Amino acid sequence: MKKRAVKKAVIPAAGLGTRFLPATKAIPKEMLPIVDIPTIQYIIKEAVDSGIEEILVITNSNKHCMENHFDRNYELENRLMESGKQAERDMICEIADMANIYYVRQKEPKGLGHAILCAKSFIGEQPFAVLLGDDVVENHGGKPALKQLIEAYDAVQASIVGVQTVPDEAVHKYGIVEPVRQMNGRRVKLSSMVEKPKLEDAPSNLAVLGRYVLTPEIFDYLETQEPGAGGEIQLTDAIKNLMISQSVYAYDFEGTRYDVGDKFGFIKATVEYALERDELKADLQAYLKTLVETF
Ligand code: UTP
Repeated sequence: MKKRAVKKAVIPAAGLGTRFLPATKAIPKEMLPIVDIPTIQYIIKEAVDSGIEEILVITNSNKHCMENHFDRNYELENRLMESGKQAERDMICEIADMANIYYVRQKEPKGLGHAILCAKSFIGEQPFAVLLGDDVVENHGGKPALKQLIEAYDAVQASIVGVQTVPDEAVHKYGIVEPVRQMNGRRVKLSSMVEKPKLEDAPSNLAVLGRYVLTPEIFDYLETQEPGAGGEIQLTDAIKNLMISQSVYAYDFEGTRYDVGDKFGFIKATVEYALERDELKADLQAYLKTLVETF
């Protein structure tokens, strides 16, 4: 079989962000900053660091500022130059040069599966990566989460969903996979998958956490997929159907994943990323200690 490399990625970022209202009324949740960098910039960096060359962001009419963020801003660049702020100027120019980024609009928020379907003609006949626009994964000094999945894809030439074990009380919030056998190592073949099950119906505690490598045949299933949980076209349902004709694997990736579309997940990410910054670490540690003593 001819090996196909994963060089394109899709970032669905057209959700309504209802868990983060009112902040997301006019600002996309993907643009909320973790310290001083918008969430989507971390995700695009992960894709680039994983070897991705072209990225399609699925947007909606409320998301212009994402396009502006990854474009040049000559007026700001000139003003920074004139005021001698060369480092800041270089920093904003570098953002515009991070990757080849394209955009397509999802005209109605019909679900994650429908958002991915909007990427069909961009992807063509190649395997591709999916990174959810509100899931950030940090793997300090190690391989980016997506790179781990791409290497797993390269080994088996089949679709891979990124998973981690979640506690019982969190199972109902995720797509949960059913492995064909007990997990032994990081990669396991799957027999089924279910979106947001009750704990008693969940086949495992392995939850799909915002990273996928998919074969292009997924589009055949997305095109005919009926709305599932929440009345939305679910990617989970299409992957489950894909398993009838192709093998699909889970890969238990290394790294800490933050659900930045959730208020508590966003706060955790902000505090932990700030603690990694040399200019903030000491002050924040001291402040957190006083808070612990006060509350
Ligand atoms: P979420 O369910 O986390 O996003 O979808 P949401 O719908 O914005 O969240 P809440 O519950 O209303 O707060 C996971 C990813 O899929 C994208 C989202 O932008 C997010 O990155 N998505 C979801 C779409 O692009 N289109 C959709 O129709 C739904």
